[in-house]
Amino acid sequence: MPILRSAFIALSQNASLRKFAEQSEMGRRMSSRFVAGMEIQDVVRAAKELADLGIASTLDSLGENVTTPGEARRSGEVYHRLLDAIESQKLNANVSLKLTQMGMDLDPGLAEEIVAELVQHAVAANTFVRVDMEGSQYTQATIDMVRRIHALPGNRGHVGVVIQAYLYRSAQDIRTLTGEGIRIRLCKGAYKEPASLAFPEKKDVDANFVKLMQLLLTSGLYHGIATHDEQMIAATKQFVREHGLDPRSFEFQMLYGIRRDLQRSLVKEGFPMRVYVPFGTEWYPYFMRRLAERPANALFIAKNLFKK
Ligand code: FDA
Repeated sequence: MPILRSAFIALSQNASLRKFAEQSEMGRRMSSRFVAGMEIQDVVRAAKELADLGIASTLDSLGENVTTPGEARRSGEVYHRLLDAIESQKLNANVSLKLTQMGMDLDPGLAEEIVAELVQHAVAANTFVRVDMEGSQYTQATIDMVRRIHALPGNRGHVGVVIQAYLYRSAQDIRTLTGEGIRIRLCKGAYKEPASLAFPEKKDVDANFVKLMQLLLTSGLYHGIATHDEQMIAATKQFVREHGLDPRSFEFQMLYGIRRDLQRSLVKEGFPMRVYVPFGTEWYPYFMRRLAERPANALFIAKNLFKK
């Protein structure tokens, strides 16, 4: 793993730096490139602006690894408010959440209860809950929980999960999940994983991404191909063309503030596009993972900080 990526991932876990950054005005300004704001109204505004460009959203209330059941329930409440906003304001949006934000480290039963209630709410609001994928210690438990919740009456098609191309296990997981009709977001993977579980080399992650994309696009379900990598996007477009697939039978997904040019050009070409829009005060670990993916971002943000 390149040294800067490791350094930013290590920084993403530094508690004192996190506290300092999240409370400082400078920190908030830095994060605004990748985070839509601190309040629900900010994320709603961002979703509407994207909708004007023909782009759908998935709304994310930032936060992970909560330490009390009260915090977990409060995280769930924010998502209920997001689902209400999606319904009442008719947003072209769904939500993305993390299980550790719903208390997974404290009590997996509590996390499951909170997520199952949110999925029920999403069914009523005619939208969808995406369960993000975190580090590999959570992979199996996340997949199992999504399968159980998806199997509950009325939930089919209203909850899905994320699969990471860097893990060796992912092709098998895709077969299991698509066999049950579960929709998947494919991404490369953003955590630090050992070579015993994940491809250490980018070229192997990329090759696996292409293979998994092909599995998804031929599964008959509507999936998300989440990447800013032009080569992955070109490979997806080529596969769609060669197999005569409907370009609207899946969606591309990108992160808020990243490759906005590419987001717009894919929409112009007729591909559905969804942007992951995070908001909230707990932006620090998310932000540092974005710097880890592209250390040049640190320079870019520093420069823009001093621009009017
Ligand atoms: P890669 O990192 O190879 O980058 C390719 C190119 O994309 C770069 O050269 C650059 O041009 C551009 N780029 C990539 N990252 C950038 C950045 N931060 N800033 C500016 N440019 C950038 N991960 C995970 O483990 N669990 C999850 O649930 C999710 N969920 C998720 C949702 C969505 C919608 C997206 C787009 C991504 C995720 N991810 C994720 C993150 C994902 O695993 C991965 O870390 C990033 O998407 C970066 O990988 P790329 O595929 O973009 O390619």
